[in-house]
Amino acid sequence: MAATNRSIQLGTAYYPEQSPRERWAEDARLMADAGLSLVRLGEFAWAELEPEAGRFDFGWLDEALDLFAEHGLELVLSTPTATPPAWLVREHPDILPLAADGRRIGFGNRRHYCPNAPALHAATDRIVSALGTHFGPDARVCAWQIDNEFGGRCYCDHCRAAFRLWLRSKYGTIDSLNDSWGTAFWSQRYDSFDDVGLPAPDSIRPGGFSRRAPNPGLALDFRRFVSDSYVRYLRRQSALLRSSVRPEQKITHNLMGFNFGEIDWAALSVELDFVSWDNYPLLDPTGSWTLPALSADAARGLKRQSVWVMEQQVGPLGWEYMRTPHRGQMRLHAYQAVAHGAEALLFFRWRTARFGTEQHWFGVLDANDTSGRRYDELCDLSAELRRLDVLQDAEPEADVALLYDYDSRFALQIQPTNDALAHEQTVHRWYGALRRLGLGVDVVPAGTELSAYRVVVVPSMPVIAEATAAGLTAYVDAGGTLVVGPRTAVREPSGALPTRRLPAGLDRLFGIEVSDIVSRDESVEVHGVVGGTLEGWFEELELRDATALARYTDGDFAGAAAISERQSGRGTAVYVGGVGDEATLESLFRLVCGRLELVLFELANGVELIPLRSRGERLVFVLNHSDSEQPIELSNGVWRDLIGGAVRDQFILPRFDVVLLRPEDTELERLVEAQPVVEAAR
Ligand code: GAL
Ligand code: ZN
Repeated sequence: MAATNRSIQLGTAYYPEQSPRERWAEDARLMADAGLSLVRLGEFAWAELEPEAGRFDFGWLDEALDLFAEHGLELVLSTPTATPPAWLVREHPDILPLAADGRRIGFGNRRHYCPNAPALHAATDRIVSALGTHFGPDARVCAWQIDNEFGGRCYCDHCRAAFRLWLRSKYGTIDSLNDSWGTAFWSQRYDSFDDVGLPAPDSIRPGGFSRRAPNPGLALDFRRFVSDSYVRYLRRQSALLRSSVRPEQKITHNLMGFNFGEIDWAALSVELDFVSWDNYPLLDPTGSWTLPALSADAARGLKRQSVWVMEQQVGPLGWEYMRTPHRGQMRLHAYQAVAHGAEALLFFRWRTARFGTEQHWFGVLDANDTSGRRYDELCDLSAELRRLDVLQDAEPEADVALLYDYDSRFALQIQPTNDALAHEQTVHRWYGALRRLGLGVDVVPAGTELSAYRVVVVPSMPVIAEATAAGLTAYVDAGGTLVVGPRTAVREPSGALPTRRLPAGLDRLFGIEVSDIVSRDESVEVHGVVGGTLEGWFEELELRDATALARYTDGDFAGAAAISERQSGRGTAVYVGGVGDEATLESLFRLVCGRLELVLFELANGVELIPLRSRGERLVFVLNHSDSEQPIELSNGVWRDLIGGAVRDQFILPRFDVVLLRPEDTELERLVEAQPVVEAAR
């Protein structure tokens, strides 16, 4: 959703309720001077907006809005439900969530509510309706954010009651639930829905087991239910807003990064007009550049439209501890988010908090109001982006789709099987291998239409719905190239093991049967058209109507196929029967994508290349995430760096620097279609 037709919009999170009133005007002026055009407010201000039940005080927010509007800033208003005030907790202590061990999470902490508490719902309806009525007609407000970063499992009586209702509507009869979960096991048969309790929490030690491990059917449905509880809570709020706000005011919710696997983003985003997410590249202690890229592509993949970064890291971060970006990384991270499809970035936060948990989470200004280096960097970035109006219509290009799936994530959370198979890490490793070849990748949930992609990869999908399996088969038959990882289709959506041979429902497509498996902490070499190493998890592939791309060199399956390939219809189906390390995956993708003549690159470690298209032209971002300069060599024509202005073919890209390249002579189709070849020593 473009609120206006400026290039990339910049903004910030502002907390008038945490800032001295005499600073507001000066803050608004500094924001406008920095070229910001968006301010998000209100998501933690319930106690100020409704100081006691039913008594609203919106005057201060109106005043803040006036000030910002005077400075040409548009507002994103949030519903404040992430922070139920003390009076609500006092009147209804049952809105506090219950941790899995039965402890109540007290007032004074973060996210202290149960998404199924009736008293929370009633209070939510009241504050959201009042805000919608008051600010819905307001032209200063361009968008609404509902709540803030949903998440957290609650084990209270309200949740148990709601879970039983949820199961009743899913299964109809208790017999059907018993069949689905297989409750003959351990005498777990239920006589009625009222017998159903909540699953014991995860207490699995890495590589170990939990003594109270619940029925996987119960645990899987509980996770779906928790996710659905937040989707319903979101829907409750969006329905109220939609009935009172102008249609120009678009509705969103700020999602977290890809690694937060509690809520089904695909289901949640159905309710949103546009997707937004929060980008903190340094939250990951390894600082890997592929992780924020993955999160960005996953957010964009939900609607396959531009997104907003509702919170973008501006400086050092941490709650208890602190980590500091290198000089230049704030700008680099911002460009990375833009390159992956963000049309607005709101820096978190304007002023560093003097009080509260986030004293180490730096804002644009220091806590003492000093506008120093971070403010100057923001001004520079904003001036630079304003000149790049070509970004207005730029869209990342992707020949490859990476598919992920929530049932599979949940199933692996419940029974990890082997740490080598972890969903998030596996997706991240496959994604990284593709990106390191310079390929554009869309990260999309199962069920997405695939026909536009040359290659579809499915790194980790143990639970597969019939429709997904059918979609993958049709995709290959129509000429697509599909690559799947180990443990594909080994469970039914109920959590049960299939009665069919593995991969269930897909064995014909791949022309194989998984005839045996080994889960063991060892590495085994594979050789063939693809060579490399598999680690921790190995499948013996019996070839029925497929050929081997790689065979085990030794180990239990020495000589057997480890990676298989089958031509099916006009397409190709590749099955990877083990956990490949990065180099192995890269060589596999080099082979598969090279045969399709996708353009592949030699990229130095830390160099990221993102292909885009804008107004029919090809653009390429090249980012240097490494902390040393990198020599870049472009072939296939002459390219202009739209950021620095220079025409370039060979140059040194300084650490944490970025170029945005466009073919210099756009008259010539040859050049329009040209790709830079970026080469640098590994
Ligand atoms: C985000 C959250 C913000 C703030 C920020 C920094 O995840 O949405 O409210 O807490 O982290 O800690
Ligand atoms: Zn609850």
